[in-house]
Amino acid sequence: MKRVIVAGKFNVDIFYYLNSIEINSNNLAESSIVELGGKASNVAVALRKLGVDVVITGCVGNDFFGKFIKEKLEKFDVDTSHLKSCDGGSGRTAIIVTKDGQNTMFNYPGVNEKFSPEMIDWTLVEEGDALFIQFGIPADTIFELSSMAKRAGMMVYVDPSYPSEIPWDAFYYFDYMSPNEREIFQITGKKDIGKAVKHLLKKGVESVIVKMGEKGSKIFLEKKTIDIPAFETNVVDTTGAGDSFNAAFIYGRLRGMDDEESAKLASIAASITVSRRGTTSSFPSLDEIRSEAEKRDLKIRL
Ligand code: RIB
Repeated sequence: MKRVIVAGKFNVDIFYYLNSIEINSNNLAESSIVELGGKASNVAVALRKLGVDVVITGCVGNDFFGKFIKEKLEKFDVDTSHLKSCDGGSGRTAIIVTKDGQNTMFNYPGVNEKFSPEMIDWTLVEEGDALFIQFGIPADTIFELSSMAKRAGMMVYVDPSYPSEIPWDAFYYFDYMSPNEREIFQITGKKDIGKAVKHLLKKGVESVIVKMGEKGSKIFLEKKTIDIPAFETNVVDTTGAGDSFNAAFIYGRLRGMDDEESAKLASIAASITVSRRGTTSSFPSLDEIRSEAEKRDLKIRL
């Protein structure tokens, strides 16, 4: 099976489920869970659940949370030999999920921000067929890792998560970039999807996948656009839906599917994820995706 290098943020997520949030008040949660989180952890685990080999790289703190993150990743059989332990606190996110399934996050990046280019093990290039990387770690690390991966012939897939100061030169190395609507406007400064996508394509991004939640997703290539519907489901918690989408899309491409088939597969994975609580515990296995696709009468070669 193919191997994916996953770089980015490794967090602990603390979830609170409640009816609604009231600011400046003591909000009582109906339930609460603590999980492995951060886009890099999430994509790594979602890929493992699809049977893909994963090696991760980034920073966790030398604290209780860092130990928790590493142990959880190892339980999923993720290769953590390139995960660094750094002085300081690990990344963490408080996630409030209201009864409509929508979330509000409070993110502390912690030592994720310490992952400098000097910490990259260059032998990693020998280890991967694709690189998944997210924004939120230092810009020069994103630049170095993506250029290294691209030169080594890997597919480079980028989730911008929240915008940071990434030099435009780096975009030239991105094969896929998967922002949501808010992120693409923030990154490009444009107010129209068409113009924003054009901007990214001009900067060298090969394909832009705009994730639009319940409206589905759109893949923009230089000469065509592919619309992928979202699959209706009972939404319980939208957290991690984008990560689940990213992992399934990468899986599809590595299995030789084209963009459209990979995005359909990714949409099914995301629809299963939003129907469950949490992040890593909500990601589907291949069998679950298969039976969901059959139920919906979708032709996907799994
Ligand atoms: O995409 C979901 C992730 O975003 C959560 O796991 C949280 O840690 C935040 O980084």
